[in-house]
Amino acid sequence: MKKLAFFDSGLGGLTVLHEALKQMPQEQYIYFADSDHAPYGTKSSAAIKALVFDVVDFLVQQDIKALVLACNTATSVVIKDLRQQYSIPIIGMEPAIKPAMELPSNKKTLVCATEKTLAENKLQLLIENLNATDKVERLSLQKLVSFAENFEFKGSKVHAYLSQSFSKINWAEFDSIVLGCTHFVYFKPIIKQLIPPHIHILDGNKGTIKHLQDRISLNTNGETFPIEFFSSKKPMPATHFAPCFNLLNQ
Ligand code: DGL
Repeated sequence: MKKLAFFDSGLGGLTVLHEALKQMPQEQYIYFADSDHAPYGTKSSAAIKALVFDVVDFLVQQDIKALVLACNTATSVVIKDLRQQYSIPIIGMEPAIKPAMELPSNKKTLVCATEKTLAENKLQLLIENLNATDKVERLSLQKLVSFAENFEFKGSKVHAYLSQSFSKINWAEFDSIVLGCTHFVYFKPIIKQLIPPHIHILDGNKGTIKHLQDRISLNTNGETFPIEFFSSKKPMPATHFAPCFNLLNQ
């Protein structure tokens, strides 16, 4: 039986794997966190490309049937090149701007992502294709990636950073916020406390798993398997990642 690989610069992609485990508990998973090189969002495109190709070369040797690039930043920079190079299905992340534009209240959306995702042409094209240029504002929350990598998912520093980041937003003009970085999903509870209740919080995780399901044949023999974890090619015990799953299970 072939495995499914999930890959992110660090812990963010676990939020996507968590969704996969809910919907497809009988698959065999590998999770790769490139923690030695996180964050990706402040690096150049060339640096991100080199890191991602190195990891994917490693993952395709692990007998995988598909790869989820559970990282908006890497998806923005390198997914096209990866698809040219490898023949397995490669599923990327897309900020959930389309669902945001379909909300009946028809107000603006605040797209939060890493510096790199916000600067990339892929995001610009997505917004233009949705005719949403006047309805999207962008906000970098890059520092949340470092908080998450330090397992700091709440507390006064996170709270202060987010309230400062949101201080200039006139929420009356908005109906949604898009979490365009997989690390940000851990901060949903604290974000919820800081924004008005009419704002919908959207992420791309469910959509990504749906795409994945459309591209693979599922394991149906009823077995379940332990997840194999790697931190930049070093095997890691599951206990290292337990705080992330505990938080997502709350
Ligand atoms: N989790 C990532 C994303 O979805 C990467 C964040 C980073 O490494 O800067 O964009």
